Amino acid sequence: MDMASYVAAIDQGTTSTRCMIFNHSGRVVAVDQVEHRQIFPRAGWVEHDPEEIWSNTRQVCAGALAKADLVTSEIAAVGITNQRETTVVWDRKTGKPVYNAIVWQDTRTDSIVNELAADGGQNRYHRKTGLPLATYFSGTKIRWILDNVDGVRARAEKGELLFGNMDTWVLWNSTGGPDGGLHVTDPTNASRTLLMDLETLDWDTDICAEFGIPTSMLPEIRSSSEVYGHFRERGVFGGLPIAGILGDQQAATFGQACLSPGEAKNTYGTGNFLLLNTGTERVLSENGLLTTVGYKIGGNDTVYCLEGSIAVTGSLVQWLRDNLGLIASAPEIEQLARTVDDNGGAYFVPAFSGLFAPHWRSDARGAIVGLTRFVDRGHLARAVLEATAFQTREVIEAMNADSGVPLKSLKVDGGMVGNELLMQFQADILGVPVIRPVVSETTALGAAYAAGLAVGFWGSEEDIRSNWAKDKQWDPLMPEEKREAEYRQWQKAVTKTFDWVE
Ligand code: G3P
Repeated sequence: MDMASYVAAIDQGTTSTRCMIFNHSGRVVAVDQVEHRQIFPRAGWVEHDPEEIWSNTRQVCAGALAKADLVTSEIAAVGITNQRETTVVWDRKTGKPVYNAIVWQDTRTDSIVNELAADGGQNRYHRKTGLPLATYFSGTKIRWILDNVDGVRARAEKGELLFGNMDTWVLWNSTGGPDGGLHVTDPTNASRTLLMDLETLDWDTDICAEFGIPTSMLPEIRSSSEVYGHFRERGVFGGLPIAGILGDQQAATFGQACLSPGEAKNTYGTGNFLLLNTGTERVLSENGLLTTVGYKIGGNDTVYCLEGSIAVTGSLVQWLRDNLGLIASAPEIEQLARTVDDNGGAYFVPAFSGLFAPHWRSDARGAIVGLTRFVDRGHLARAVLEATAFQTREVIEAMNADSGVPLKSLKVDGGMVGNELLMQFQADILGVPVIRPVVSETTALGAAYAAGLAVGFWGSEEDIRSNWAKDKQWDPLMPEEKREAEYRQWQKAVTKTFDWVE
């Protein structure tokens, strides 16, 4: 028997699925990654094919193991982390999805949101769930599938169908599918459905009834770190324990060692997600932030977070690449932005999915404002990057207002933190230092930590703290007057996107 000296994490994200293998110091040993199709059937609709994602999952697990030159018995446990809210409904006997996965960015459930908000307002479930009514969360997406796919409501009521976010879809398939697959989730994912009571960590039967969702479809909510079950014997990772589940943003918070109240991180992915650890206290926001479960390690107390979710940041760079062809690859944006000194007066508000935090305006749509003949591709590239930084400032202002304690520095991670121009501008526009860790792939790392803690591979959260190391820090250089003037222009630009959808 080989010594199990590694932990693996499956990161099922919005644009790709990855498997990463980590050693005991939390350093990456191998990674394999495959992108999946983004399906846009209509304006505002975004779907994924769950079967494609499951097949990619198996492929990347095998790929990472091969790249690391390891055998299965050298892995101690596997953690799962995932794009949150994205909704799959499938048949428990055949494993066939009844419809594509409806992605978190999808806005088709607008009318369901309005219908539910008509009685009690957008915040009618805020106290119980920590969330405003919005198209973002899974509850309205399940309801849409039940209402719109032929025969599905009747099948759901007979108990034939299962709902899951991507964590549950991957876990159920990994542990046997129709043949004994585990229908389980964790509280970080469940807290993004609008259906879970934040205090009890149980499904709220009243809300489920109001949404018209049979509770028999819903997975069992367990902790974020425990042995749920094992990979089916035949196939990649056969027999390994699956021992951690965290939604990707909570996983990044854990991987960034934001383990004490007051610690925060900002992840730059397809969207940006800023999470502040508030400890065992559930702080309800008065400024458009979400209250969400941060993590629950085994039988320990639940740790909560305040979250500022921004729908479109990195995906705006992809849009520039794929829809406009202004760049050939995402990293090229930095080069293009460096051809000019500033944004030339242009501001780009990417309200492609409406606006999330702190506005929660589903009636908003994207706008580029401040255009003159002077503006060229370089200025647009800058405006695209700056949009990420400005939106981050908006959620930090909300967070400062909610907590009463201004953030002193910001830990960052995710794909876009390799962009030096963006990181400097972020520090400039916030007026606080921005700090990048050595391992910027904190999402997968967080899931690996959750799994490793459950099997004793890591002893305690102290191990996580001591593994964290700083790579680089950006200090603010922009004069305050300019910073505030830029931010005021941005705020004006945001108002131009409102009331667009009638
Ligand atoms: O809430 C959505 C979020 O979990 C998606 O994260 O990294 O896949 O864009 P990402």
